[in-house]
Parts: sequence; structure tokens; C-alpha cells
Amino acid sequence: MSRGYTTSTLLCFCALSFIFGRFVQEIPGLPQTKSGFTQSGGAASKTSRRQAIEKPVQQAQSHHQSGKPQAPGKKLFTSFEEAVAATEALLRAPPVKPAHTGNEFYSSQPLQIISWYPRIILFPGFIDEQRCAHFVKLAKARLAPSALAMRKTEEDQETEDVRTSQGTFMSRHDDLEGVISWIEEKAAQLTGLPVSHGEPFNVLRYQLGQHYDSHYDIFEPESYGPQSSQRMATILFYLSDVEEGGDTIFPLEGRYGQERLKGTGFNYKSCEGGYRYKPRRGDALMFYSMHPNGTFDKHALHGGCPVIKGEKWVATKWIRDKCFSPPCM
Ligand SMILES: *[C@@H]1O[C@H](CO)[C@@H](O)[C@H](O)[C@H]1NC(C)=O
Repeated sequence: MSRGYTTSTLLCFCALSFIFGRFVQEIPGLPQTKSGFTQSGGAASKTSRRQAIEKPVQQAQSHHQSGKPQAPGKKLFTSFEEAVAATEALLRAPPVKPAHTGNEFYSSQPLQIISWYPRIILFPGFIDEQRCAHFVKLAKARLAPSALAMRKTEEDQETEDVRTSQGTFMSRHDDLEGVISWIEEKAAQLTGLPVSHGEPFNVLRYQLGQHYDSHYDIFEPESYGPQSSQRMATILFYLSDVEEGGDTIFPLEGRYGQERLKGTGFNYKSCEGGYRYKPRRGDALMFYSMHPNGTFDKHALHGGCPVIKGEKWVATKWIRDKCFSPPCM
């Protein structure tokens, strides 16, 4: 690689830091919290906005110690040309004046459409390592002393061997550091679905052999009758990697996926067929259980495959089609 290329790359990243510092902000804008998690408000200074982009990278590095230093923002682009194009685009089209409830800055988060049957969207690296660790620590503390209490509610399910994980419900009020609130706010900004439509997080720990048979999150109209409010979407936040197993499976994924229901003995425990996602710490996987017209999407059947090695931590957020947690928007 020529020296000229290296210099211009550096210049470009300086320019990008400047541009991103001005216009782009890590989602969402929340006030600074005690723990020093990276957050900055809509009216934040240039410096704090830039920190919002750079700090997670630095945090990840300092935590790992091993990783080579990486220029902030570098991972966002695969080529110099791509980076320049992004810079120019932002200069030409900076954020517009928002309405009263809007943001003065751009937010950025990569996403990948995984499927349209059902609608599955992956948000890679949605939660940084430090926030994942914090969330797990909080959940762990709740699981340990409440193991007996949990058993009471989970007993029926355990005997049926449908869902063998341990779980706890957590809302933003359970986290004084504001991480849970940060996640909810970021999810709302990405999806356009208000925080008030979300149920509290259901945080689950799957240990060796634990699993969750394939099921629907919405209350199937055929079995449960008309519902006053429905779980229209689900976001699964993976708070840990899993050494082996623990995939999330969508057994009926695909345009003709429902064909698999036909014939004899569809196996809700099976981890074969359909689409499987291997857990990766920090990722968020969102899927819709309803079609845009509000009817039930039967492709949305999903389950958690048994953990073969290691441990799996996942926080589930169910999002309703109506307000669930006041104050309502
Ligand atoms: C709703 O949308 C789905 C998927 O596009 C379609 O198959 C279904 O027929 C629609 N139902 C109604 C009542 O419009």
C-alpha cells in the first residue's frame, strides 16, 4: 500500500470524525449516567457527539487489551472510496430541522434483512460489550436469589419440557445505570415503535441442554380468540456468545415455509430445517409476528435450540400493537 494512500486514508478519517461528530450520533441521545456509559443529548456539543461514536470502540479495546488500535469509524467502510462518498453525502445533506419530538442528528446502525417470511431484521452489534456485561450482571443477581420463586411460575413449563431456561422480567426501573433504558430508546428509534408499546425485558439464561421449543409470541387468534392487544414484533437481544448450540430457529421460514406444517408430525423440538441464527453477543434480531395488514404471520414460529457448550443469555422484548407501559405516546 502506497504512502499516499495511507495519508489520504488518515485525512479521510479525520474528516469523517469531524462530519460524524457534527451530524451523526450513536442512538439514542440520553443524559450522561453515573457509570460513564456513552451517551449524549440532542443539544450536545460537538465533542460529546464525537465521543458517542468513538467511545464504544475505545471501551471495547480497553476491555480486550489484545486488539490492535483501530481508527474510529474505520469498521464502517470497506474502501476509501466508500468512505469519501459517505462524507460527501453527509456534507451535502446534513440533518434537517426536526419537528418538536425529533432528533437534530442522524443515527446510524447497520442492519441486515434476514428474511421477508417472516420479516426478520438483524442489527449487528446493537449493544456494546460493556452494556451486555452490565445487563447480564443485573439479571444474574435477580436469578440467583429468586430461583425458588421462579420455579413456581416455571414449574408447569418445566414439566412439559417446553422451555427449560431460567428467566426474569426486567424494566428500566430495575437499572439505575440507565442501560436498559438506553436499549429501549435505541430500539424505539430504529424501529419507530414507541418505547411505551414494549413489555418489560424477559431475560433468559440457557445452560447446558436447555432449550425453548418452537412457538409463537402472539396469542394465536385461532386458539385464543380476538385479543385486545397483540405482540406484533419481538426483538431478541443476545447478551452473550454461545460456544456451541443455542441457535435461534425459525422452522417455517421462507415463502413456502408453511408447507413444512403439512403431513405428519411436525416436530416443534427439532432444530433442523428453516432458518437458524447463531447467537453473537451484542446483536439484536427483530422479527414481526404480524403482517403489515395486522393479521397473524404464521412464518414467525421460532424457538431456541439446546445449548451444547457454554451458556446463552438473551433478553427478549415483546412489542405490542397498542400501548403497554404508560405514559403512552
Ligand atoms: C394480510 O397480508 C397477508 C400477507 O401479505 C396476506 O396473505 C393476507 O391475505 C392479508 N389478509 C387480509 C385480510 O388482507
